[in-house]
Amino acid sequence: MNTVIETIKRRRSIRTFLPKPLAEEDLRAILDAGIHAPSGHNDQPWFFTVIRNKAFIDYMSSRAKEVMAESETPWIARMGNSDRHILYNAPAVIIVSGRRQAYSPLSDCSAAIQNMLLAAESLNIGSVWVGLIDHFFTRPEDLQKLNLPDGYQPFYAVCLGYKAVESAPAALPKRNAGVIHYWA
Ligand SMILES: Cc1cc2nc3c(=O)[nH]c(=O)nc-3n(C[C@H](O)[C@H](O)[C@H](O)COP(=O)(O)O)c2cc1C
Repeated sequence: MNTVIETIKRRRSIRTFLPKPLAEEDLRAILDAGIHAPSGHNDQPWFFTVIRNKAFIDYMSSRAKEVMAESETPWIARMGNSDRHILYNAPAVIIVSGRRQAYSPLSDCSAAIQNMLLAAESLNIGSVWVGLIDHFFTRPEDLQKLNLPDGYQPFYAVCLGYKAVESAPAALPKRNAGVIHYWA
């Protein structure tokens, strides 16, 4: 199998990381893969905030969980009240934000994230895409701490770190069948 397809199939979300910091060259290679994603109208509307400060990563998790605990969605509220670190104590977290006025910022940022996850896997670095971080963005005083440029909206976090566990086999979680139809 070719190496790209093999990496796509091997990548799994990793949620247990070694505390070891990421090598600068690995981090740069991952970010560089992000900026090579396709984007609508070639807007390239992404902005990456790299956070390696453990105290701030812990702060983002605990503030997000306070908001989650108040959620009307039971599983989110349960997670907000649990011991789980929503950023999994990752040594590096990238907040991915998009320029609001661009043509398709959420799609473009998502494409950039997938590129980064695959680049990380190709370097045997663990990663997980975290949507629950959006609960951290709800309080203006917290949002300000990210120092985003004007006009940018944070969408997601990507946790990165050397793997403390091996990925699950490529077949897990099981992929749903019946989602491909050859028309005609
Ligand atoms: C938009 C999006 C949001 C996600 N948010 C979270 C999250 O908040 N926390 C988490 O642990 N995983 C999150 N994930 C990872 C998914 O749970 C994971 O991709 C899915 O279970 C399939 O597993 P795999 O990545 O190992 O193939 C998210 C994935 C996507 C695409």
